[in-house]
Amino acid sequence: MPDADKFAVLIGEEALRRRVIELGSQISKDYQNTPLTLIALLNGSIFFLTDLIRALDIRDLHIECWRISSYCDTYSTGKVTGLEHCRAEVHQRHVLIVDDIYDTGLTLSHVQEHVRTLQPLSIKTCVLLEKKTKHQVLIPVEYVGFTIPDEFVVGYGLDYNGRYRELPDIRIFRSN
Ligand code: IMP
Ligand code: MG
Repeated sequence: MPDADKFAVLIGEEALRRRVIELGSQISKDYQNTPLTLIALLNGSIFFLTDLIRALDIRDLHIECWRISSYCDTYSTGKVTGLEHCRAEVHQRHVLIVDDIYDTGLTLSHVQEHVRTLQPLSIKTCVLLEKKTKHQVLIPVEYVGFTIPDEFVVGYGLDYNGRYRELPDIRIFRSN
């Protein structure tokens, strides 16, 4: 397993901090006086979620975490597991789905579809990262932190087979 300090930093800590604060103020403006439920997809969004929540100023905020997965090594399996157990009480509430990355879009499209069955007032999606070249399905994603090149990245919650989530910045993972 390669050593993390050999990985090139793509987005540093300060840039992450600033951008998450910007996203937080934008979202706060958009939802200030409306009941909002954040639905965060774990594990990848853990750092992003906790930083984003602290950048929000919203009166009626609920937070739900759903644990689902679709990845194996550096490839999307296209199959999302765990959604069948995911619930949230979103009657008369708006929903903002929070995830780490919009890559193929398969995960988020399944999640959006599932949230739709819960019949919230509205559904929007916020991701920290977007890899534009990898989309297999085009889905609405209203808030994007950074658009990144087609590289496998780790850190700030993102993993390679469970490793490197703890890195404080986003780095390009190369297995050799
Ligand atoms: P998608 O279904 O292909 O859009 O992938 C969604 C999930 O794959 C994300 O929520 C991540 O957990 C994972 N993923 C996609 N690209 C990367 C990456 O570069 N590094 C780590 N995880 C990734
Ligand atoms: Mg994920």
